[in-house]
Amino acid sequence: MPLERRDHDVVLLGATGFTGALTAQQLARHADEGTRWALAGRNRGKLEALRESLGVDVPLLHADVTDEGSLRDLAASTRVVTTTVGPYVQGEINHDGSGLSLESDDTTVALTDFVVDPGDSELTGTVWANGEIAEEEASLFSLDGRTLEPLRSVDDGAVLEGTTVRLTQEAADLLNDTFGTDALEGGFEVGVAKIVVRTEP
Ligand SMILES: NC(=O)c1ccc[n+]([C@@H]2O[C@H](COP(=O)([O-])OP(=O)(O)OC[C@H]3O[C@@H](n4cnc5c(N)ncnc54)[C@H](OP(=O)(O)O)[C@@H]3O)[C@@H](O)[C@H]2O)c1
Repeated sequence: MPLERRDHDVVLLGATGFTGALTAQQLARHADEGTRWALAGRNRGKLEALRESLGVDVPLLHADVTDEGSLRDLAASTRVVTTTVGPYVQGEINHDGSGLSLESDDTTVALTDFVVDPGDSELTGTVWANGEIAEEEASLFSLDGRTLEPLRSVDDGAVLEGTTVRLTQEAADLLNDTFGTDALEGGFEVGVAKIVVRTEP
């Protein structure tokens, strides 16, 4: 169908997620009067709740990215589809041999062999207490990409900097138990990650 005869100008797919809800808020606040926009997703109840929270009167459309037909119908109904459906990235980055160690009096805790899941924005690893494995594949840090800076090219590769690294509640509980303290809380900011990728040998 010609673009000008389609039902919607913009459809937001993935609107029920974290990034999608922020995008929906921007559309609700700033879309020009007369813009025909709609919210799309796979869960009608969540879409209805979102629409209510936004206080807008826009159509709700069904679309599931695992259902090709629903995507075709969605695309045919609008001039533009904008999507925040995740995860964009799937897989794992294994940092074998990586780690850090924490010491207090006669207790040493080592966090080693970090594995980053960019889809879940989480870093897991092995926890050692005084040389003994206390937990494997423990959830250690959450990775908040909202502070991420654009990828920078450098002479021999690229630098990705700015992900805020925070202690998970699970890690905070484990460390508090091991060190006999209540000083740590989930969400504690550990630092800002910098990833350097060398592309030249
Ligand atoms: N959050 C951040 O700070 C951030 C920063 C940079 C990049 N990202 C990336 O952005 C992506 C989205 O992040 P997010 O935090 O917004 O994720 P999220 O809160 O988990 O939202 C994911 C969205 O995708 C939808 N979805 C998942 N599978 C679907 C399917 N089969 N069909 C239709 N919709 C589907 C979910 O719908 P339901 O509600 O029905 O589950 C939800 O609306 C992720 O890949 C993440 O890595 C996030």
